[in-house]
Amino acid sequence: MSDRQQGNNGDRAVEELDKQAARAELAHLYKEMGRADEAYYNHDDPIMDDAAYDAMRRRLLAIEARFPELQGPDSPSLRVGAAPSERFEKVRHAVPMLSLGNAFDDRDVVEFIERIRRFLGLDEADELAITSEPKIDGLSISLRYEKGRLVQAATRGDGSEGEDVTRNIMTLKQVPQHVEAEDFPDVFELRGEVYMSHADFAALNERQKAAGEKVFANPRNAAAGSLRQLDPKITAQRPLKLFVYAWGEGEPLPGKTQMAVIESFKRWGFPVNPLMKINHSATELLEAYRIIEQQRAELPYDIDGVVYKVNRLDYQQRLGFVSRSPRWAIAHKFPAEKAVTRLLDIEIQVGRTGALTPVARLQPVTVGGVVVSNATLHNEDEIARKDLRIGDTVIVQRAGDVIPQVVEVVIERRPEDARPFVFPRFCPVCGAHAVREMHPSTGEPDKVRRCTGGLSCPAQIRERLAHFVSRDAFDIDGLGKKQIEAFLRWGLVKTPADLFTLERRDAESLDRLKNREGWGRKSAANLFAAINERRTISLDRFVYALGIRHVGATTAKLLARSYGTFGRLHEAVTGAADEDSEAWQELVNIDGIGPVVARALVEFFAEQHNEDVVAALLREVTPEEFVIEDMTQTAISGKTVVFTGKLERFSRAEAKDRAERLGAKVAGSVSKKTDYLVAGPGAGSKLKKAESLGVKVLSEEEWLALVSGDTES
Ligand code: IVH
Repeated sequence: MSDRQQGNNGDRAVEELDKQAARAELAHLYKEMGRADEAYYNHDDPIMDDAAYDAMRRRLLAIEARFPELQGPDSPSLRVGAAPSERFEKVRHAVPMLSLGNAFDDRDVVEFIERIRRFLGLDEADELAITSEPKIDGLSISLRYEKGRLVQAATRGDGSEGEDVTRNIMTLKQVPQHVEAEDFPDVFELRGEVYMSHADFAALNERQKAAGEKVFANPRNAAAGSLRQLDPKITAQRPLKLFVYAWGEGEPLPGKTQMAVIESFKRWGFPVNPLMKINHSATELLEAYRIIEQQRAELPYDIDGVVYKVNRLDYQQRLGFVSRSPRWAIAHKFPAEKAVTRLLDIEIQVGRTGALTPVARLQPVTVGGVVVSNATLHNEDEIARKDLRIGDTVIVQRAGDVIPQVVEVVIERRPEDARPFVFPRFCPVCGAHAVREMHPSTGEPDKVRRCTGGLSCPAQIRERLAHFVSRDAFDIDGLGKKQIEAFLRWGLVKTPADLFTLERRDAESLDRLKNREGWGRKSAANLFAAINERRTISLDRFVYALGIRHVGATTAKLLARSYGTFGRLHEAVTGAADEDSEAWQELVNIDGIGPVVARALVEFFAEQHNEDVVAALLREVTPEEFVIEDMTQTAISGKTVVFTGKLERFSRAEAKDRAERLGAKVAGSVSKKTDYLVAGPGAGSKLKKAESLGVKVLSEEEWLALVSGDTES
């Protein structure tokens, strides 16, 4: 529907409306959009499709822009626009949808193979088969079948929770609605990539252009835009295709290798990529990569690399995962695409920890199908090393989802008036000194210059709050940078705890959130509900949300796993201030936590301000005790284990991984807190120490007997 056909004056252009007609039409739009919102949000029964709703909204905005004085306090334009993505039901994935680690060059591929061989303890003579297949540049999808019937399709989302796009997926011709095969499990999830072919993409854009509708930047965006339509009738008109290459919940699997399972998928009627093959060495993998790279230009769809996967599923199971990616697979990316443009300016952004990051403002340029107008410059040494000057012609590159980068200057094209950039010595936001700290052990200045303003710097406050509500932290729906910025401006929040008292304070305020710019009754209510939902939170998210330097999501999980409750973690860290103390020893003894992280933790809690912020937060929210997911108690849950000497049956890495999957903590050295020392041949000082402390010592066999009764999650 075009803007001209909307409302009760629908056929008149906005410029032709007089004030009276505009007033009448606005009243009509307020009513209709109100009805649509009510039906959608409160009755879960939309009376209007997205396109019609959007057309109304555009018309409304156009009229209000022309007659701002007519905008009423109840205007739908003052409500936070429900992005289409907020209008899909959420789906929790039974098995998380993970991402892949990346290899960028041949060396990374060789290391990938070596790492796997080492982990599995394979000899040179042992065969290790690895599949190769194109990495499809589309969007990943999970298809759930129950009793052979497609019951749910979900996007990846953040990996744990995606969006329900079942009705849209059902319009894809290549997706079987029923699977008859005898060996098709009762419950089974297939995973793959939805994409659009080059020809279909070009034809769609032609049609869009002719109809005066949005033109898509690349096939991937077109596929995403087409799948995420609220009206499946629109999806049905978009020629989306599918390749399946993985699976989620469901047993038994129809094969013992990656290849055998994928062949079964094909037999069951699912589209699989014909270029998948088996290889036996890094050399063969690199050969497969070169071949696919050469075919790339002729393929009818976009690919952005080659994916390698360990073929044997028992090996995959043993290899397991590191944070969000499998150890048994990797994506070998094609080299980044490059383009030439001009460096217009350099701006400084101030981050959560006060880091001053220079950002290049570029003459917009298309790189690999995406318009790039900013790129990171990392730090001041990088600017000096590349001798970047404002006005320079530069080469920029981007690969996949990574932030675009400035690679180098085209010196021959340097204009006479190109201006060197002077890196500021003061924070551009709060004016405090910006310094490069000395690295304690090397004596070298840190690469990063930091604002010393701490929490008196508005930029740091803003970034910390944004981090606090971000996806891996408190993950508060409807609260992003933009909203945080407004809350700060209005003086509504300063520290994380303020978010949790916002509703109470709002109820007593004369200046209610629902009446403020960008908000409305429903969006404010939704926000309070989203905040309240997070009053209990997992311990690792809580720790990560605090934004302690060097404590990312993985480290936060490690800390949560090691200490179990916030109280114990807090006690341990405050007790570790003295580096000669036992608490310090225990902290750095956690495998994966070194002195840098330990020091950052100690420093964080030594700061009274941080203690105050945390105490206020703990009055509002409860971090849950950390429980190891999906795990029944095992013989070693909660125990601290140390490995020493040579292990015969497993590599050290695999033994450690297995112990952790069964709920144990693995430490690097023996102390009073050690429960078991697993000692292989050649054990030396650790064994002596364990004996002197009376720690239980196990042989590898005894250890295996202890853990083998337990199932791994
Ligand atoms: S395997 C457990 N195979 O790449 C890992 N992924 O960075 C399962 N992708 O989200 C993924 N082509 O959307 C796999 N042949 C392929 C793929 C592929 C594209 C995407 C997928 C995933 C992302 C991982």
